[in-house]
Amino acid sequence: MLQTIRADTGAFGIEAIQKKYNLSLGEPHLSRFPLELLADLVRIKDVHRYYPSRGSETLRLSLLNKYYHDLNLENISVTHGAIGALDVILRSHCERGGDVEILLPDPGFPPYEKLAEFSKLKIKKYKINLAQNSETLIDWQQLGQQLSSQTQLVLINSPNNPTGRLFTEKDKLELNQLLQKNSQLHFIMDEVYRELIFGNAEHIELSEFLDRGYIVGSFSKMYPLQGARIGWVVTNPQSMKKLIPIFNNAYGAISSFGQELAQAMLDKDFDFSEPYHKARATVEKVLTKNQVPHMIPQGGFYYFLDFKTDDRLVVQKLQEQGVAVVPGSAFGAQGNNHIRICFAQKKSDLEESLEIIANGWHSFQPVNL
Ligand SMILES: Cc1ncc(COP(=O)(O)O)c(C=O)c1O
Repeated sequence: MLQTIRADTGAFGIEAIQKKYNLSLGEPHLSRFPLELLADLVRIKDVHRYYPSRGSETLRLSLLNKYYHDLNLENISVTHGAIGALDVILRSHCERGGDVEILLPDPGFPPYEKLAEFSKLKIKKYKINLAQNSETLIDWQQLGQQLSSQTQLVLINSPNNPTGRLFTEKDKLELNQLLQKNSQLHFIMDEVYRELIFGNAEHIELSEFLDRGYIVGSFSKMYPLQGARIGWVVTNPQSMKKLIPIFNNAYGAISSFGQELAQAMLDKDFDFSEPYHKARATVEKVLTKNQVPHMIPQGGFYYFLDFKTDDRLVVQKLQEQGVAVVPGSAFGAQGNNHIRICFAQKKSDLEESLEIIANGWHSFQPVNL
């Protein structure tokens, strides 16, 4: 019997859908949230109050200790998810006249564009390299052509949603040169998937460039806390000073319950990554067996498959067979003809839905007579 699951895909501009296999939203379904922590917290802690608008000092210190050893408390604030961090950063660059430009990745996480619009920033797109063997995540030559004296921000996301590709050492050299040459430019690194990296690759740290940028993280992907809405931003003290009035007034305070849960996750040093490695291996096996050409993700929990035909049509056909995925065009022009699959799903669902997707891929390819 077709069991139905509702998926709210509003961020991708498509209607809510009822499907058996929901591979659309980027939710970390493979890691179970330890519910027992919640009862303990409510009983023991004095959480029924506003926490400081920049977040609990203990949580900020724990985050520094885990991810950013060379920084201190003035560099970090807790935010309403990574989305809240991005919102506050972009608002701080919103100037009267609306001449400020931001460079966004194509393909890229759809809310980037909306948030930039809300802050009246002029959007330009730079290309993510889609070839498996390219040395850099970013097409730096094409990005250079987009840059002008009005470009204040370049937003980078690694591991990248939707491609699963990583920012490399070579990207870091290129970014450094770009910042040297363009004194008005700042970077934003969205590293919400930083601990979900496969094989021998490593996440590239950018905290040494922080006088010229921001790093954004989250408990929504690497930890199963997406409902708690806890993220963070790190930057230099000067830029942080501009963010603080926005935190105070736009968000008031960040959820005290959410912060305590996040703290408990860090204190207990949970590692949730293993099931994601296994899930990626499952997808790899089914796609390889069915001879579906694909780029192998190096991080995150998505596959970005090129169907070489109208992705809205592909999504519709797959929906009719009970599989919900996201059309690549929702991520930008380079995503046309692609679909994004979230592989944070249990093994049996992945195997069954990937067989449907693989059959779908073959049915859309031209027949060689
Ligand atoms: C690249 C990227 N950044 C940010 C977010 C949002 O994170 P949060 O739930 O912490 O707001 C997502 C969620 O899918 C994402 O894929």
